[in-house]
Amino acid sequence: MTITSATGASAPASAVLAPAASPGTSPAADEQAYVHGYSPTEARRLGDQADTLAALLHAGPVYPPGSRVLEAGCGVGAQTVHLLNAHPGLLLTAADISAESLARARERVAEHLPDAEVRWHHGDLHRLPFPDDAFDHVFVCFVLEHLADPAAALTALRRVLRPGGTLTVIEGDHGSAFFHPRGEAAQRVVDHLVRLQADGGGDGLLGRRLYPLLTRAGFGDVAVEPRTVYVDGARPDLVEGFTRRTFVAMVEAVRADAVAAGLTTAEAFDLGVAELRRAAEPGGTLHYTFFKAVAVNP
Ligand SMILES: C[S@@+](CC[C@H](N)C(=O)[O-])C[C@H]1O[C@@H](n2cnc3c(N)ncnc32)[C@H](O)[C@@H]1O
Repeated sequence: MTITSATGASAPASAVLAPAASPGTSPAADEQAYVHGYSPTEARRLGDQADTLAALLHAGPVYPPGSRVLEAGCGVGAQTVHLLNAHPGLLLTAADISAESLARARERVAEHLPDAEVRWHHGDLHRLPFPDDAFDHVFVCFVLEHLADPAAALTALRRVLRPGGTLTVIEGDHGSAFFHPRGEAAQRVVDHLVRLQADGGGDGLLGRRLYPLLTRAGFGDVAVEPRTVYVDGARPDLVEGFTRRTFVAMVEAVRADAVAAGLTTAEAFDLGVAELRRAAEPGGTLHYTFFKAVAVNP
């Protein structure tokens, strides 16, 4: 199933609203700027990431049944499934700028939770067509780090959140990654990812900025918690699910872009990834910290 047009021709008309692209900026154009891209490999990586980290990232305040929740930047639905699983009776609207990702999200939810009802919206979270105060809670995961102006995005999301409603934001920070064995070439490939993301207008180090971003956007009671993943040989599930399939996969996916941007050669990049992979071998370890913030719309 695909969503074939702005009006969601292959989906129920009530389920997919028209995209709200600004003049001259189609969602497709925005999609191209996204550092991780929209390949099937990336879709798999998002699924592995969400499934591996579900307990770590979703632990926290629970949305009561009947809550009107917006998931902004739902991607392929990797977190959507966990949100629905953890919150029976949720009235969920899931939005993304990528029609292709949204189609995959619909498939994923239909496969895992065939009875779930989700209102799908294809469009830009900066220009959501929902009325003010339309939601009790907003959930955003791994999205702000890809936006040129995360403060503007937060302001746009606050508009659709009712007074007293909460915003939950989860972001990574690639500067929090350290690994054993330590290697200069491995560190350089991680730095290439951060640089490419910055060149694309994003910020791979956004996690550490959540508190100032949220307070400046007018949110109150901002509470930011570091949520650390530490992986060693005692957790083979995390070695596979996080070190290999989430973290190393994310870094190695920018190989072509890093070479094209003149940051490195293919040989040097491959050497760095090989070095990084040693963190997933016997005796290797990896540390990475996510940041989860919950804030209130005063
Ligand atoms: C790294 S993915 C994260 C997806 C999902 N939240 C997850 O954790 O698996 C980032 C998503 O944000 C979406 N996105 C980026 N800019 C957006 C915008 N301006 N409006 C809506 N979605 C956007 C992308 O299309 C992509 O699906």
